[in-house]
Amino acid sequence: MLYSDELIEEIRNANDIIDIISQYVTLKRSGRNYFGLCPFHKEKSPSLSVSPDKQIFHCFGCGVGGNVIHFISKIEGLNFKDAIEFLAERAGIALPASENARDIYKQELKAKVYEINEIAAKFYHDNLYKPYSKNAQEYVKKRKLDNQTLKAFLIGYASPNYNELYNYLKKNGFTDEQILASSLVNRTENGKFIDRFRNRFMIPIQDIRGKVIAFGGRVLDESKPKYINSPENIVYSKGRNLFGLNIAKKFDTTKLLIVEGYMDAISLYQRGITNVVASLGTAMTEAQGRLLRMYAKQIILGYDSDGAGQAAIVRGMDILTAMGCDVRVLQMEGAKDPDEYVIKYGSGRFLKLMDDAISLVEYKVKILKRNSNINTTSDKIKFLNDMAKILVSVDNKIEQEVYIDRLSSEYKISKEAIYAQINKIRYGNKPAERVLEKQIIKRKTELPEDKEILQSSKTEKVLITLLINEGRSVYEKIKDKIKPEDFKLEQNKIIVKKMYEEFENGKSNIENILNLLEGQEDSINQVTAIMTEDLEINDVNKCIEDILYTYEREKLIKRKNEIIAEMNKLEISTDEARKLEGELSDIIMKLAK
Ligand code: CTP
Ligand code: MN
Repeated sequence: MLYSDELIEEIRNANDIIDIISQYVTLKRSGRNYFGLCPFHKEKSPSLSVSPDKQIFHCFGCGVGGNVIHFISKIEGLNFKDAIEFLAERAGIALPASENARDIYKQELKAKVYEINEIAAKFYHDNLYKPYSKNAQEYVKKRKLDNQTLKAFLIGYASPNYNELYNYLKKNGFTDEQILASSLVNRTENGKFIDRFRNRFMIPIQDIRGKVIAFGGRVLDESKPKYINSPENIVYSKGRNLFGLNIAKKFDTTKLLIVEGYMDAISLYQRGITNVVASLGTAMTEAQGRLLRMYAKQIILGYDSDGAGQAAIVRGMDILTAMGCDVRVLQMEGAKDPDEYVIKYGSGRFLKLMDDAISLVEYKVKILKRNSNINTTSDKIKFLNDMAKILVSVDNKIEQEVYIDRLSSEYKISKEAIYAQINKIRYGNKPAERVLEKQIIKRKTELPEDKEILQSSKTEKVLITLLINEGRSVYEKIKDKIKPEDFKLEQNKIIVKKMYEEFENGKSNIENILNLLEGQEDSINQVTAIMTEDLEINDVNKCIEDILYTYEREKLIKRKNEIIAEMNKLEISTDEARKLEGELSDIIMKLAK
């Protein structure tokens, strides 16, 4: 392991599990724990439990569990080490430099690329004000950008020169390798270095910390391609960033508008609408969704909503809704994009559009309406049926009623007809009771095996709970009588073996059982299940006595059966048989007590 246990603990302590998980899942408090919908499997009722006292999570639906590091590792798709680094950065804890040669190399190269990007952004920005950048200055005027905006976004200009940036970076001491890693310069087949961006209006892309990670370069005229963008590289990943978020986050972001174009975000910002970000030419990713979710309660999608854009909008909305965001869609007419709209009609009217943005359900119905011809009666029935399918998905009954009211008057369909259709979809043609009955039977038949395992391992869970809660004192009492191998469930064997090792090494408490089990996912899930279950143990000593008694009896019974089996194979009255007979009668006496 690269980092010390103490450092890992420090990082874990600095990241409260409730804070972290709340950024991905809506949590509600109930008693000592918090509950929410598990992000690791699909579910409708919450089975994710998070304990602020123990700083662990566990899902009773899919069985996953762990501490805050495991959570981040799972949800961000990072390995354990990267998850630690993610959390350290979030908490502002400095990590010691790696001693692994490849890590060091990568870290250094990354640092250099960040440096190059920053220098390049400044270089392009300064260029914009030079006398030879007339074209670009004209373009600034044409796009009605003011100087403050140019400064805020560090907008710049790359001249038509083939290698001015390359030469500038070389002059600043960067190596070819570092420069190529930044993707700002390409090497041709015959070994020449050529700037990627030439004669383009330069828009730096920054991450949430404000570090320049990439560039978008726009032509100054109508030629194609309109934009060239930095490709993904060691500092840039499109799907994990949003253009303008570093600026938007300085203002109120309870509501955040996400638009398609860099120029839309820039133009709105200049006109006082600062709660805006632009997607980076990709459909919404889950990572972007989580980023938005961290800053905003309500997210408004301001994408182009005709044709091809529709599917992307619905998918984006589904992603965000699943994360518990209130998602809306901007409805804009009379301009091709937000930039044109705000210039044409002003920011007051644009703000009104944001207020009037519609919900996912309304949007889906709207698309449905747009895509259906309602001429005949059967068209109308089909439309009603499709609309009901959309409404069935609204879990909240009050919300559903509001939609039904609204849609009923908008589309001139009676409320009763809509309700009837919804019920038909929900229950089919069978009475509601039959459906319920079936669900109950299904649940019953799914359970027995799980239940048996659970029951047979109850004692094991109690023992593990005791070892965690009481520490060494319990270990001393049981260590000679109960060995890790005596545990039936494989995960429990592993857990207990680790704990015994700790006690043998002189530890008096098991505080970091999750760290000790690193890499043993099944055991981590099992131990968080036990910790979350929080078995109540009133009289510790009595409980230990009972358990020892049970184990003792179990061992005796096992031995008794072995003896009987062995004796069946032996001639009566041989020495060996007599010895076994003696042992057997001892056992029977003991068991009778
Ligand atoms: N885009 C791209 N490459 C292109 C065209 C578009 O990467 N050839 C991406 C850019 O991120 C751009 C976004 O898609 O910002 C939206 O495209 P568009 O609306 O055409 O761009 P705007 O930024 O609005 O540019 P402009 O108003 O200057 O036309
Ligand atoms: Mn535009």
